[in-house]
Amino acid sequence: MASAGAPNPGLEIRVAVPVDAPAIWRIYNQGIEDRLATFATQMCPPAEVEGWFRNPRLRVLIAENFRQPVGWASLSPYRDGGAFSSIAEMSIYIDRAWRRHAVGQLLAGALIAEARARGLHKLVGYLLEHNISSRKLVEKLGFREVGVHLRHGALGAASPNVVVVEKLL
Ligand SMILES: CC(C)(COP(=O)(O)OP(=O)(O)OC[C@H]1O[C@@H](n2cnc3c(N)ncnc32)[C@H](O)[C@@H]1OP(=O)(O)O)[C@@H](O)C(=O)NCCC(=O)NCCS
Repeated sequence: MASAGAPNPGLEIRVAVPVDAPAIWRIYNQGIEDRLATFATQMCPPAEVEGWFRNPRLRVLIAENFRQPVGWASLSPYRDGGAFSSIAEMSIYIDRAWRRHAVGQLLAGALIAEARARGLHKLVGYLLEHNISSRKLVEKLGFREVGVHLRHGALGAASPNVVVVEKLL
């Protein structure tokens, strides 16, 4: 996959393969610890990420800096059922040490291209309201804010709002 526009000459994006699972798992758990990206509060077991590669409807891209994984992004099914088969949910997780280095933007661009190539017509995202970095990122990518689910689930003792965003492809 091309690295055109990469902010760093060593940065490349490619489709992830099962051998990438430990790196994806490590970066995902940073996001869980930060309590900014997901309602998950328990560390994700490695087997969960390994299982993603057995799901043909789930696509994962990985960003590497000189072959060292620094982030990943995924397209996952929005809902079961044919009516929604051309909609995917987008997730992006960047290694803490690499945030704010334009990796998320690069991965998202590649993910949008991948979604178009797969014939999808829309991407959706569910963002915790207090996750300002991801809200700014999707705004920059041209996502539209659909609305806000109030107190939408338990995140430890908190019940944060969730911002729903979408982008037609
Ligand atoms: C959200 C996340 C993916 C952004 O990735 P990133 O590589 O740090 O973002 P980039 O450097 O590509 O920034 C792209 C744009 O996003 C916005 N942005 C990113 N981080 C920001 C921050 N801390 N504060 C404000 N805006 C921010 C800006 O608009 C930025 O553009 P700019 O640099 O021209 O101002 C990253 O912070 C992350 O992995 N967070 C933890 C996991 C998560 O929250 N995932 C999203 C939900 S699935």
